[in-house]
Amino acid sequence: MAKKTCIVLAAGDGKRLKTEKPKVLMEVAFEPMLVWVLDSVKASGIKRIGVIIGNNAELIEKRLEKYKCETFLQAERKGTGHAVMQAESLLRERQGDVLVVCGDAPFMDEETINGAYELHKSQGNAVTVITAETPAPTGYGRILRGKGDRVIGIIEEADCTDKQREITEVNSGAYWFNAGSLLDVLPKLDNDNKSGEYYLTDTVELLAERAGTGIGAYKTANGNVTLGANSRRALRLLNKIAAEMIIDSHLDNGVDIIGESSIIGRSAVIGKDTLIMPNTIIKGETVIGSGCVIGPNTLIDSCEIGKNVTLNNVQAYESVIEDNVKAGPFVHLRPKTVLGKDVKIGDFVEVKNSSIGEKTAIAHLTYIGDSDVGGGVNFGCGSVTANYDGVKKHRTVIGDNAFIGCNTNLIAPVKVGADATTAAGSTITRDVPDGSLAIERAQMNIKENWGRNYERKDK
Ligand code: UD1
Ligand code: CA
Repeated sequence: MAKKTCIVLAAGDGKRLKTEKPKVLMEVAFEPMLVWVLDSVKASGIKRIGVIIGNNAELIEKRLEKYKCETFLQAERKGTGHAVMQAESLLRERQGDVLVVCGDAPFMDEETINGAYELHKSQGNAVTVITAETPAPTGYGRILRGKGDRVIGIIEEADCTDKQREITEVNSGAYWFNAGSLLDVLPKLDNDNKSGEYYLTDTVELLAERAGTGIGAYKTANGNVTLGANSRRALRLLNKIAAEMIIDSHLDNGVDIIGESSIIGRSAVIGKDTLIMPNTIIKGETVIGSGCVIGPNTLIDSCEIGKNVTLNNVQAYESVIEDNVKAGPFVHLRPKTVLGKDVKIGDFVEVKNSSIGEKTAIAHLTYIGDSDVGGGVNFGCGSVTANYDGVKKHRTVIGDNAFIGCNTNLIAPVKVGADATTAAGSTITRDVPDGSLAIERAQMNIKENWGRNYERKDK
């Protein structure tokens, strides 16, 4: 099989977005645009990927770890043609066909990449440009066609005549090249244009001028693939489109989403008959089972959630929530929380780095941190694990079916045994054996006739 290689252009500095970050790390549906592009490239079956990086290269390299790409530094940004030149060694080594894509056009998809490749091969082209018809071509390079509709070049917006500006077929910024042909023309690029940059788009005209060279255009039916983020406004539009795309795919899978205000990230998986209530944000690698009610006003980041779970006004991060849990309103689940089946969590409760056993109830105003709690435990209102002594964090261990009275302070490290009880208001500093009652209170004093005394003093 012919060798396929991809070069992703990702060195742009996002001047037009007024950002300190590399532009390709700006997010669409909570994922960097570069991640969208790389996922599509991988899905299309291309194994060798070179990424051209510039400013803040280390930030991009960090995001690339799982993709096993090679990177090429473009120390100075002199244009898209100059960017590709940085990967010359990869082109020479690989030969075959090379896909060049922009890291700032997140909707380039597998179907378009493969559809364009088929056309590229069947026509034996030196270059196949991926194009789209759009009613709003402003900002994009326009496709120039000559006799017999043959593509003869691409002209950038800034260099267009008024007439050329009316052309509605635009360059997506993605192309299949024959590597040898690309290597032949790259050294011939100049920067004699309005931006003073070495345009990759000029390679098309250079190749078109050669006798017998095939130049093709794959006009995609999916107009979104051309959309890039050259401004914050464009980025917002991409986010709107992505949000609708993602919500539609969940609706098609049998998820109900009420209202317009929820946003679901690109990697979330949601089971059927789950209902997403308004103002809910679901991000990260979150998996939600079937029959759940999530929201309103809920934020879930990278959680694993079972079936028939109800989360109302909850913020949950990197946690596991098993079947039939009910939590909310106003619950904060911080990383490394595991809630067992049928756990109930009520208002103003925070749980962190703790496992809570099946059927345990934590109904109101409680903080559980760094704890291992058994099943069937009941926490009274206002219970607190004092997990931090000012220097170190310590664990609290609570056995099955223990009863923690209201306003108990559990000073970690400490253990409360199975079936043990702590009396309301106790500060527990020593381990409580199984089945026993721990009560820690000052003696209550009664001063009789105090009310009358008080009245007399007042007179
Ligand atoms: C480019 C195309 C334009 C096309 C549009 C589609 C050129 C000259 N123009 O314009 O025809 O319609 O994409 O979105 O190619 N980059 C580098 N190094 C550089 C400059 C850019 O790596 O020196 C990267 C950017 O990070 C970006 C991509 O190349 O991912 C495209 O660059 P950008 O400046 O956004 O080009 P456009 O003006 O959008
Ligand atoms: Ca762009």
